[in-house]
Amino acid sequence: MQIDRKKNIFIGIDCSCDDTSIGVVEFTSLDDWRIISDVRIGQEDISQFYGGVVPEVSSRLHLRNIESAFDMALKNININQVTAIAATFAPGLLSSLVVEYSFALTMAQLAKKPFIPVHHIEAHLLIAARGQEWPFIAVIVSGGHSMLVLCKSFGDYEVLCESGDDAAGECYDKLARRIGFGFPGGSYIENCAKLHTKKISLTLPCYKQLRLSFSGLKTQCLKLLETESKENVCYALQNTITESIKEKMRLCFEKTGIDRFVVCGGVAANSFMRESIKSLNYNVVFPDISLCTDNGVMVAVAGFYHLYFDTGMTKILPNNCSRLSLVDFTNLYKNNNS
Ligand code: KG4
Ligand code: ZN
Repeated sequence: MQIDRKKNIFIGIDCSCDDTSIGVVEFTSLDDWRIISDVRIGQEDISQFYGGVVPEVSSRLHLRNIESAFDMALKNININQVTAIAATFAPGLLSSLVVEYSFALTMAQLAKKPFIPVHHIEAHLLIAARGQEWPFIAVIVSGGHSMLVLCKSFGDYEVLCESGDDAAGECYDKLARRIGFGFPGGSYIENCAKLHTKKISLTLPCYKQLRLSFSGLKTQCLKLLETESKENVCYALQNTITESIKEKMRLCFEKTGIDRFVVCGGVAANSFMRESIKSLNYNVVFPDISLCTDNGVMVAVAGFYHLYFDTGMTKILPNNCSRLSLVDFTNLYKNNNS
């Protein structure tokens, strides 16, 4: 499908985890866009009560909230002005994705608009890519994923390094839960770490290897709480995750010769990490802090890319793909175009 290159309004919907997020974005080009609305209805209180996200509870809350989130997001525009509706179809919690996907597809069909299924990780990296020159290396650090991906061009990705166990955000959340902070725990840990009195240094996991691992570090920090103050342990976790990511960035630079990076995903909201990465001598961009954690705007951005490059994703209706990897996802539209 060809798009009007002058002005396009996209709706992006993400309910892959515990936020009901709907964004409306107006585009004139890949890098030139403005947010019309960015609505997020969180479930923090419930998740805090259970000590994490309970998929079946979360999906019921999405069901309750998605219609009002949609109405709020479209308060100042008419759906007839919209070019297309994009929604995350993978990866994420299956029961939440089913609610989101059915809702988004129904709205697109009722409004007679193209529907674009979007990959959550691709959405995180594309919103961060604004202003960065391709090829670049995307550092994706979220609650569900930690990986460094060589992005050669749109849709051509090679995973260079990935966590084989916990994601970085998961460690923040699990330490926060043990301390008794709210959920998700990243920002609580960041604030607590500011009050550290001692810089405890921990061994970098998988040092000098193109692998990430955070589960041992998490266990070490939970144990450290027995003898050290929470402030010092929070700092130790934050610092070790940051140093580990920086070490992998160096290794990826050595491997590829590419010094352009985008850093994205919820953990990229961490100011300590942002400042520390900026001190590396690389060309690094980050999304605004508010656009690091899950949001509908990034899904709208990814949807726009797919229509802009005419990948044919509007003709694909993938089903039950809650665990589909980034590279397997790109095969869907590469195969579709060949
Ligand atoms: O990208 P995201 O919203 O959801 C997933 O796709 O997983 O990332 C959520 C993660 C949570 O683990 C949360 O604790 C972490 O991002 N996070 C942070 C900060 N803000 C959010 N981690 C460290 N520092 C922060 N300021
Ligand atoms: Zn995410």
